[in-house]
Amino acid sequence: MGFLTMDVPAFVGLAGRDLETPFAPLHTPAYVIDKARLQVNGEILAHLARRTGCKILLAQKAFSNYDFYPLLAPSLAGTEASGLYEARLGREEMRGKEVHVFCAGYREEEFPELLEYADHIVFNSVHQLKQFGPRAKAAGKSLGLRINPECSTQEGHAIYDPCAPGSRLGVTRTVWDREMDPATLELLDGLHFHTLCEQDSDALEPTLAAVEEKFGEFLPRLKWLNFGGGHHITRTGYDLDRLERLITAAQTKWGVEVYLEPGEAVALNAGYLLTRVGDLVENGGIQVAILDASAACHMPDVLEMPYLPPILGAEAGGKEGYLYRLAGPTCLAGDVVGDYAFEHPLSRGDLVILGDMAIYTTCKNNTFNGMPLPDVWSLEESGVLRRLTRFGYHEFRRRLGSPRL
Ligand SMILES: Cc1ncc(COP(=O)(O)O)c(C=O)c1O
Repeated sequence: MGFLTMDVPAFVGLAGRDLETPFAPLHTPAYVIDKARLQVNGEILAHLARRTGCKILLAQKAFSNYDFYPLLAPSLAGTEASGLYEARLGREEMRGKEVHVFCAGYREEEFPELLEYADHIVFNSVHQLKQFGPRAKAAGKSLGLRINPECSTQEGHAIYDPCAPGSRLGVTRTVWDREMDPATLELLDGLHFHTLCEQDSDALEPTLAAVEEKFGEFLPRLKWLNFGGGHHITRTGYDLDRLERLITAAQTKWGVEVYLEPGEAVALNAGYLLTRVGDLVENGGIQVAILDASAACHMPDVLEMPYLPPILGAEAGGKEGYLYRLAGPTCLAGDVVGDYAFEHPLSRGDLVILGDMAIYTTCKNNTFNGMPLPDVWSLEESGVLRRLTRFGYHEFRRRLGSPRL
């Protein structure tokens, strides 16, 4: 298996902290969300919003640990949801802020309740805009349509590319011309595009040009343009000046309010997954450390993207030091985090700390093989750890059948 082909981000966070004292007693696996790091991200986003007048939403699909919404709320205009439940969570937990929703397929039976929570509703097809739009408009909602500018900026990454050929996401100009009519166009307050994934603003530039070429003629009569997510704004080295220029250009040219809805950027490098070495085995000269955390269950993007997460005190794909393949305890042969060179030899019971584990983890994990769900902890700015959840056998069981206990 080739685990060494990907770029590996650096471990960020926990600098200068005494880890042994607070982390040693934690039952593993455990997610720890770092408030100080969330605060740093929030300040970068708030600064961007202040300088440009754009509005920034938290895409809850990436991070929806709502205990941290009060910390993030002052930096954000609100939340973005993928459907009814996230919309409700945003309404309940980020009080007084905007709730936006985009779903590729709204359902009749959910729509009346969705109207209670959402301020902006973005449709994925002209058909759904016609089906639900008049009701939503009558309820005072701001309506949008997701467009597909057919501008791929992600080489060889089709699973995360909404502009890949045959994509179901967003209306192409050809379909717009075939299906749109003046009365339906009248319903629209804005357009939405989401085409990026972990990208810099250099990828946004050609995307906006494609949006202008294909849909620019409609924008002057609209109120807003949502640039979607995938902007890695809080990553070191991100080109913020270019992003600001692009936002300002859209505001000036079309007179629209600009929204961004990043998920990753809000909680980038703001969480850790703590795990312990359960066993050490060897095969063909490869030392394998079997952890109590699973790639498949607790960090599924490691296998889906795929990518190598940063680990404190270890180099991903490194050749110097003590070499281990880190793997999970499930039955899946490919439940492997990757190959790492550690500064020290590993022993059974050792703590291993994986970085950048706040995003697409706690909201995406599963109990395959009856794996326990890791508890979620808050690392307070004072250094104190506070437990937010306690999961056990009941969560595993409740998802599988009737509550007969
Ligand atoms: C419509 C939409 N908005 C926002 C996001 C958030 O993207 P990211 O977490 O990469 O910033 C996504 C991610 O898939 C998305 O599909």
